[in-house]
Amino acid sequence: MLYAQSPSNSITKTFGILTAGGDCPGLNAAIRGVCRAASGRYGMKVMGIADGFRGLIEGDVRELKPDDFSGILTQGGTILGASREKPFREESRYTPDDIQHDKVTIIKENYRKLGLDCLVVIGGNGTNTTGYRLTWEGLNVLGLPKTIDNDIAGTDRSFGFNSALAIATEAIDRLHSTAQSHSRVIVIEVMGHKAGWLALYAGVAGGGDVILIPEIPYSEEMVLQAVRKRAEAGKTYSIVVVAEGAMDKGEAQMKGKELKQAREQAGEKTVTNRIARLIQEKAGLETRTVVPGHMLRGGCPSAYDRILSTQFGARAAALFEKGCFGYTVAKKGTLITENKLEDIVGKPKKVDLNDTVLNTARSIGTSFGDC
Ligand code: F6P
Repeated sequence: MLYAQSPSNSITKTFGILTAGGDCPGLNAAIRGVCRAASGRYGMKVMGIADGFRGLIEGDVRELKPDDFSGILTQGGTILGASREKPFREESRYTPDDIQHDKVTIIKENYRKLGLDCLVVIGGNGTNTTGYRLTWEGLNVLGLPKTIDNDIAGTDRSFGFNSALAIATEAIDRLHSTAQSHSRVIVIEVMGHKAGWLALYAGVAGGGDVILIPEIPYSEEMVLQAVRKRAEAGKTYSIVVVAEGAMDKGEAQMKGKELKQAREQAGEKTVTNRIARLIQEKAGLETRTVVPGHMLRGGCPSAYDRILSTQFGARAAALFEKGCFGYTVAKKGTLITENKLEDIVGKPKKVDLNDTVLNTARSIGTSFGDC
């Protein structure tokens, strides 16, 4: 239920905070960072919004006191809950009750009823887009970049990536020994629908022999050539790291809808099983697949992500204190800074084909299935 709120006055500034989109390690550290700086340093009032934008639509909001954000630095998940509610999406813009209501109008009304001076949205590309569109509706919005995909423009890192990288790398490490024992090829699928950062970095850190990412469409022939070459050189096993969004050269020519349909017809969401079948049938090598999936998003954040989330949180609170809105915080080199939302929305950060990690991998003979 919505708290009865008197409109904020100039003495106490109030902000709402929510975590939207898929979760990742570091969300609680970020909540703590914002809240500790905002309430401890600047004396602000914090309203915690449940389950992303859904809580702001349904009025599921409560005041957060210091005890609520104490002891959460190391915890995985989010104390606020998360959802993929997108209030501007045409197909679901209206509430499903008898008299349908426009979710965006409800959000604006609740923002006012709660006496919010600012809405802090912690999320990925979709969340930033929603936040940006809410600024058009007159709301003061600040964003914090999170996602294990590391695909948010204007920031070297989003928090969550480093933790997921450690988990994915450990998974690949563990697969090495079992692949070697049984002389098998193991194909591991790593999250990353639009961008292949996690597959690239985990693949390099874990010593993957073939890495397939959405930015580099592969040819089956080249994948086969890479695993055959290893077998011919006497290597009894191989590890193939596949990003969730990897596609072959033919699929790369298709429009998004067409690709989705083709995959549906083939009864597959990703190419992982297709790659495994290809290697088993055409190269004659015994093959297994592994999909760690949401395991990559669970558990406690790495030390790096705890620090980054805390830095992002403190920066967002400082921006609010200064009255700077319409930004998302960012890391550029060693600097913690910010970008205007309008400059980064709708531009997911893909792996650059001249990326140094990618080039290093190529130079040591890692195959990307393209040449
Ligand atoms: O948060 C991004 C992400 O991790 C993507 O890599 C993946 O495609 C997606 O989440 C899956 O999320 P969910 O199953 O929660 O919808």
